[in-house]
Amino acid sequence: MMQALHGLAAPAKLNLFLHITGRRADGYHLLQSAFVLIDWMDTIDLELRSDGVISREDVGAAGDPLPADDLCVRAARALQAACGTRLGAHIRLHKRIPSQAGMGGGSSDAATCLLGLQRLWQSREQLSKLEQIGLALGADVPFFLRGRNAWVEGVGEQMTPVDLPPARFAVIKPAQGLSTPAIFGHPALKRDTQRAIISGFAASPYDFGHNDLQPVAEMLNPQVTQALHALRNQGLSPRLTGSGSAVFAKISGDEILQAVPAGWQQKLCSTLPAHPLVGWADDYATYA
Ligand code: C5P
Repeated sequence: MMQALHGLAAPAKLNLFLHITGRRADGYHLLQSAFVLIDWMDTIDLELRSDGVISREDVGAAGDPLPADDLCVRAARALQAACGTRLGAHIRLHKRIPSQAGMGGGSSDAATCLLGLQRLWQSREQLSKLEQIGLALGADVPFFLRGRNAWVEGVGEQMTPVDLPPARFAVIKPAQGLSTPAIFGHPALKRDTQRAIISGFAASPYDFGHNDLQPVAEMLNPQVTQALHALRNQGLSPRLTGSGSAVFAKISGDEILQAVPAGWQQKLCSTLPAHPLVGWADDYATYA
């Protein structure tokens, strides 16, 4: 039996646009968005434990320490319960993606743990079962499990893969983060954007729509406005990703990073054609 998997990638995402088109009875929002994977990544090591314990260790966390019960640990426990294994794992998380950024870092870590642990435990759940476990952990987890850049609808569970032309972005994460529930629950949030069609997006994927969460994010966090200005001052067209507080702008390739205030993070990123672990769930499904 395999003892460990080292250096599993957990990439971040950007939302090229994000429209809120309605709200479900349970309070969750109906959205339309395009999710693209980028090369700002966490990496995860998984080591088999025969005692059934799930433990976690963080290496090089940039921001505040993660809670003991972070999404990796919750994902591992949920998979353990679903597949009824007596095995456990030690999860070593090399954290590089900023938290409270709208870049999906926690969801991506959870997805990578699910994909890696089912291989380590030889549990062979169907992708649909993993997606069900993932969706209960966070609306973005199914996207990372599928591993393809996608046009996304519903509350995040309806995905259509899209092939996007390669692109580069300047990404800035201000020091102050933003809480997803605070943004989605804000009274000023516009929740009735007209539904768009995928062909409109596909015609100009990097210049389509807007992010309905951005005005509320700017109200709650003035550093978002400051970060948007910093990119506009370089002649770029920036936008918020997800519920922020990170912002991004497409670049032509030869831009250089300007200084940002202390405590902020920034990086030049490239799109990924697919998740490095794409196909991991399917492989197991075919053996089942
Ligand atoms: O699922 P996730 O943890 O990403 O969502 C955090 C919060 O954001 C939810 O509890 C909900 O308040 C809000 N949300 C929403 N509609 C979505 C996704 C998230 O209202 N489609």
